Amino acid sequence: MTNAQKWVAAFLGLFLVLFILGRVTKKEETMPVANENYNEQSGQQPAEVDALTLIKQNGCITCHGQNLEGTKMAPALVDIKKHWSRDALINYLRNPGAYSGDERFEAYREKYKGIVMPSFGNLDVKDLGKIAEYLQTK
Ligand code: HEC
Repeated sequence: MTNAQKWVAAFLGLFLVLFILGRVTKKEETMPVANENYNEQSGQQPAEVDALTLIKQNGCITCHGQNLEGTKMAPALVDIKKHWSRDALINYLRNPGAYSGDERFEAYREKYKGIVMPSFGNLDVKDLGKIAEYLQTK
C-alpha cells in the first residue's frame, strides 16, 4: 500500500466508525410520546389537565367558581352525569339559550337572575367533548 492508499483507508475506517457510532447513539425517534399534554409536574391525568385548562381559559370558573363549586352567579357543577349525557352536554354548551329547561332550570333562572350562561359554540367540538367528559366526573 502506498501512503496515499493508507490515508484513504484510514479516512474510510474513521468514517465508518463515526457512522456506526451515530446510528448506535441516535435517539429512538419513532418512540411514541405517551401524551404531549401529560403534565409531569402534577402527575395528573392528561384528560383532566386538558379539561381543567379549558375550563379556566374559557372563564367557566368566573361564574361557576374556582372548583366549580358554584357562586352567587352560577350553580355548582355537580351531579352533572345524572342530568346530562356527554353529547347532550356538548349541545348544551354550544347553545345554552336553546335549552328549554326543566324545573331545575326554572329555579336557576330565578336564582341567577340576569346572568346568562354564555354559548361556547366557538370552541372546537373536541374541546367541548373534553369539558363534557370532565364535567361528567363531577
Ligand atoms: C357568565 C357566567 C357563566 C359562565 C362564564 C359560564 N356559565 Fe355555565 N351557567 C351559568 C348560569 C347562570 C347557569 C344556570 C343555567 C341558566 O341560567 O341558564 C349555568 C349553567 C351551566 C350548566 C348546567 C348546570 C346544570 O345543573 O345542569 C353547565 C353544565 C355549565 N353551566 C357549564 C359551563 C361551562 C363548562 C362553562 C365554561 C366553558 C360555563 N358554564 C361558563 C353561568 C355561566
